[in-house]
Amino acid sequence: MNKLLPIQKWQIVQWSTLIIATVFALILLAEGMNEESFRLLIRFTARSSCILFLLAFIASAWQKLKPSQVSKWLLQNRRYLGLSMAISHGLHAVAIAGVAVLTSENMVRDNFGANLGYVFILLMTITSFKRPAAILGRRSWKILHTVGMYYLWLSFTVAFAEKLGESWLFYTPWVVMLISALILRLILLIKKTEKPIVT
Ligand code: HEM
Repeated sequence: MNKLLPIQKWQIVQWSTLIIATVFALILLAEGMNEESFRLLIRFTARSSCILFLLAFIASAWQKLKPSQVSKWLLQNRRYLGLSMAISHGLHAVAIAGVAVLTSENMVRDNFGANLGYVFILLMTITSFKRPAAILGRRSWKILHTVGMYYLWLSFTVAFAEKLGESWLFYTPWVVMLISALILRLILLIKKTEKPIVT
């Protein structure tokens, strides 16, 4: 049991869902059901998803490069952070549907890149469970989760970078966090390749 962070495994999914869903409901209560409030919810859920995603994305590199109680907790609970991100992005889709219903603006059509993001989120969520993972097999599982993870990294980074023009002060930290997370993983990759070949 990691003494530093008492909540583990499904408790993470429960607590993150409870917090994100409560804020979601409070925004609708405070702002009413209209296009602006749903757009606000799209942004809120994109940000909560990004934080959960980043924690799962940096876990293994942090634990290998500079192990600590926190990095150990992140690695032990990476699956549950990923599932929490999937639920948060499920609410991103609900907010998108809210705008579509109120404005008949179909943001899904011709949005191949964003749709593919949801395909990866869905496949990675399903294969986070034992049976589907066993059916897929270890090698394909690794390929799906590696390609999927980097594709989601790219989706978040592009979506936030596109908003720099709107407010660079607000969006620069998000882009910097995402790029720093990638650099952390690349450092580990380089260290792995540097390992002397034992002849
Ligand atoms: C069908 C799929 C998707 C649609 C239609 C969609 C739609 C949108 C829209 C309309 C916004 C702008 C909201 C606004 O500022 O008014 C937005 C923001 C965003 N979306 Fe999505 N999205 C989709 C999938 C995704 C995926 C898969 C990711 C990442 C993995 C993602 C990450 C983001 C991010 C990071 C923002 C910026 C949030 C902010 O301004 O703080 N979206 N999305």
